[in-house]
Amino acid sequence: MMNRVLSTVLERAVESATLAPSPHNTQPWRFAVGEEHVELWLDRGRVLRVADPDAWEARLSCGAALFTLDLALRADGVFADLRICPDPARTDLLATARLAGNHRSTSDERALAEAVPRRHTNRRPFSGRAVPTASRHRLETAALAQGGTLVLLDPSAAYDSVVALIRRAEFLQANDIGHRTESASWTGRPAGCPDGVPASSAAPPPLLDGLVVMRDSHANHDLPARAYEQQPLLAAVVTSNAGPHEQVHAGMVMQRVLLAATADGLATSFLSQPFETAGTRAALTKLFKYRGQVQTLLRIGYGYPVPVTGRRAANDVTTALE
Ligand SMILES: Cc1cc2nc3c(=O)[nH]c(=O)nc-3n(C[C@H](O)[C@H](O)[C@H](O)COP(=O)(O)O)c2cc1C
Repeated sequence: MMNRVLSTVLERAVESATLAPSPHNTQPWRFAVGEEHVELWLDRGRVLRVADPDAWEARLSCGAALFTLDLALRADGVFADLRICPDPARTDLLATARLAGNHRSTSDERALAEAVPRRHTNRRPFSGRAVPTASRHRLETAALAQGGTLVLLDPSAAYDSVVALIRRAEFLQANDIGHRTESASWTGRPAGCPDGVPASSAAPPPLLDGLVVMRDSHANHDLPARAYEQQPLLAAVVTSNAGPHEQVHAGMVMQRVLLAATADGLATSFLSQPFETAGTRAALTKLFKYRGQVQTLLRIGYGYPVPVTGRRAANDVTTALE
């Protein structure tokens, strides 16, 4: 049964979905595949207990996987009816995708689908080259097309406030044994590992203390220090509301933006520290309240190629539905 199910178009879509980003590459998802539909489940055993006790980041990741699954189906000429959080009695069932007919893929969908295997988190220094207006517009449009908002942050008072919160959260986490232990258990893994972050994906330490501080747990202090761009373009993914449903939705918006950036030749990384300590999360939420609920923060610019981070095989995260 499993082989027959996985030999369908759904197999390719699930495979593509597993390339979605997730914090520390935890891959907090499971797929249950039927003849004509896929269920996407939150894998509670892979939610970061310290950094992500409410599974917010895990639901963002699953939303990114859902967007990627749907995109792969569309690129394959299939339209799916998506339902987010379809069953209030089963809150870890985050979405269903039911095959609903044929679809003529658009050039935008094909470009985004081609970007899926080329999208990688790039924690290394970016060049100082500014992101041009046309690219910025394409990223904002990608978010809007998915029902979200991308707030681009250039140096300003708001930028300084966000940067200060990133610094504050990084400081708090560096001094918290729980955070340090959890991060250490998912990072510094050997190349080719199927989950967690390999040492090869870690960044060199900064030569000078830059304005934006990257996650120290993702730095490799054995590498020679390098200069980082001083004021990278920051971007906040914002949705209208808060809550689990919106977190899955926000993950879809986030992935569309990340893929649009990849298609445009841009490099991206995440700055999630302020979401992971209560005080900084509340302050960040307040800062963006005028636009809605801030869901994630990204760093965007021009980088150099980075190694691929592994994934568990689609078979290992899939069960067949009778
Ligand atoms: C919600 C979310 C938060 C993340 N936060 C961070 C972060 O704060 N710092 C970081 O370096 N990477 C962060 N990442 C990136 C993951 O570590 C990365 O997606 C994972 O290692 C897989 O690698 P890939 O994105 O290159 O495929 C985050 C990813 C997601 C989805």
